[in-house]
Amino acid sequence: MNRILTKRQLTPETALFEVEAPRIARRWKPGNFIIIRPTPDSERIPLTIVGGNAERGTITMVVQAIGKTTRITVALNEGDSLADLVGPLGEAASIENVGRVLCIAGGVGVAELLPVARAFGEAGNFVTAMCGARSTAQMILDEELRQAASEVVWATDDGSHGFHGNVVQCMRDWITRNPKPDLCHVIGPIPMMRFSAELTREWGVRTYASLNPIMIDGTGMCGGCRVTVGGKVRFACVEGPEFDAHQVDFDELARRNRAYLAEERQVLESHTCRIGLGA
Ligand code: FAD
Ligand code: FES
Ligand code: MG
Repeated sequence: MNRILTKRQLTPETALFEVEAPRIARRWKPGNFIIIRPTPDSERIPLTIVGGNAERGTITMVVQAIGKTTRITVALNEGDSLADLVGPLGEAASIENVGRVLCIAGGVGVAELLPVARAFGEAGNFVTAMCGARSTAQMILDEELRQAASEVVWATDDGSHGFHGNVVQCMRDWITRNPKPDLCHVIGPIPMMRFSAELTREWGVRTYASLNPIMIDGTGMCGGCRVTVGGKVRFACVEGPEFDAHQVDFDELARRNRAYLAEERQVLESHTCRIGLGA
């Protein structure tokens, strides 16, 4: 179970995996996620379901190595099996036919955006996928996005491809030449989601953000993924991860996601040190 059938290294830090998961492959919807443990003694981490193939009985996930557990996951290879995998979890993304949809993503959020952009396109919308990366070397899934969306706009921090600047600057530039979208969907690092949402509030455009709080059980029991939306407590794993971006308390989300930085740094250092010793 949970065997890795194919692995594709997208960048030095990011890999795409096709994993055996026949029941999830039949039931998943864009916006759903899974919770995995790469090895039996790993912690649990949430990952978006990027794709699924019911005939092959597989799902696709894209992992960016940023800490101990994602590094262990990215180091897995074809033929290895994940220790466990639970899903599909969360509510599906809100997909409707509104006309023009702007889908905005940064970093590994580009992978998470792909199924959502495709679903908006299949629903009959003109979809612009606007994606940010540090540099050309960190751009992922460009070809897949071009097949899924009506147009793809890239912004790179160093100007090596597309717009020179971050995604929010790119949005400000793009709106000078394009009609206002009817709906926006944003996913990525918290500051990027916050500033995108502030801008679309100025535009007066309804916007959904797919949030990334710390998740542990993914079933609404532990409270780890608590977020505040419109002054109300919500649990992103069962009521989200997508919420009205104009109502999200991004300050609280940023604070809670930084709560264990010291511990995360410590386990990563000890993991890196053991790898150095050949463990
Ligand atoms: P750590 O060093 O432990 O943590 C680094 C940072 O990641 C932390 O500071 C914290 O902000 C965040 N984090 C840590 N533990 C968790 C946790 N249990 N849950 C959520 N965030 C955590 N990443 C991808 O690469 N691809 C995806 O498709 C993807 N989809 C996601 C979907 C959802 C619904 C959520 C909530 C997160 C998603 N993430 C995705 C983020 C991914 O879960 C974190 O990068 C990962 O948990 C970090 O684990 P770590 O041990 O490697 O890093
Ligand atoms: Fe435990 Fe959401 S992850 S309540
Ligand atoms: Mg961790």
